[in-house]
Amino acid sequence: MSWRTRSSLAWLRELPGVRADEPLASRTSFGIGGPAEFFLELGRPEAVEKAIEGCAERDIPYLLLGAGTNLLIADGGVEGLVIRVVNREHEIDGTRVRAGAGLKMMRLARIAADANLRGFEFAIGVPGTVGGAVYQNAGCWGKEIGEVLVEVEGFVPEGGRHKWTATDLKLGYRTSALRDGHLKGALVVSATVRLKQGDGEEARQLMAKLTRERNETQPIKTKNCGSVFKNPLGDSAGRLVQAGGLKGAREGAAVVSSLHGNFIVNEGGATAADVKRLIERVMAEVKRRFGIQLEPEVEMVGRWK
Ligand code: EPU
Repeated sequence: MSWRTRSSLAWLRELPGVRADEPLASRTSFGIGGPAEFFLELGRPEAVEKAIEGCAERDIPYLLLGAGTNLLIADGGVEGLVIRVVNREHEIDGTRVRAGAGLKMMRLARIAADANLRGFEFAIGVPGTVGGAVYQNAGCWGKEIGEVLVEVEGFVPEGGRHKWTATDLKLGYRTSALRDGHLKGALVVSATVRLKQGDGEEARQLMAKLTRERNETQPIKTKNCGSVFKNPLGDSAGRLVQAGGLKGAREGAAVVSSLHGNFIVNEGGATAADVKRLIERVMAEVKRRFGIQLEPEVEMVGRWK
């Protein structure tokens, strides 16, 4: 039975601040995707908790959105409720930093350096939010958030508030129980990381160097979703795509970057269907040439026909 009953739709329409048919493309780094059937932007965790609790009680599908940097939203949009989580507070206690899920990782990297804390410089290369980073154990330059994470506060609809360790969250390479396991649909409220006392100026210099490097190797000024594929064990998706002669491959306005093979660039006006076709083409060609099954890192959500 569809969740779309008269009373559920009425409940959604009456949520304070809700908007119907809200465009989502501009809320993703790809700049692609159809509208949210219903959309809310919420800063107070309690408000997000109440909204997803209400959805769970009514079987209304919902999607929690951060900075939309690792997402491919279908052209048909997203059914149910999309909530953009924007709590961005932070608090420093010695070497521990607690950050709201909506704070950008890059911003937190600078905050940590300004507080003379080391060990978070890698986050300058992670485009999304703290919540999104926990959700998929995001990382850069061989480091992941899981390595410095001490506690995550979260909320499970119909299960209440929880505190999780990195082990509870089953963090792995670009995965967690939140993305792929028993905590699917749970909310990340905040994350606490433990860093090391050090020289902030050195941290800033390292971040500047890493950013220069990233500028040279990744098309970071374009509309993209970061790495499209996970790296296969012991290999690199970008290398495989290049060796398969797929750099520059195109579907509509979606193009495999000529700078880095693991990036797809929206040249302007690409549809989600273009990107999906291109992803499937790359996967098929890499499989045919090298016998390796690439696995998308980008998360595809919404109504695909
Ligand atoms: N390579 C090629 N051709 C290419 C791209 C890369 O031959 O077109 C080779 C490089 O020469 C290098 C190897 O592949 O020897 C690895 O490439 P790179 O150092 O660019 O790193 P990556 O493995 O492609 C990973 C993360 C990135 C992160 C960088 C920073 C994954 C899937 N990607 O990329 O993360 O920024 O390391 O070190 O783990 C993301 O997750 O969205 C992301 C961008």
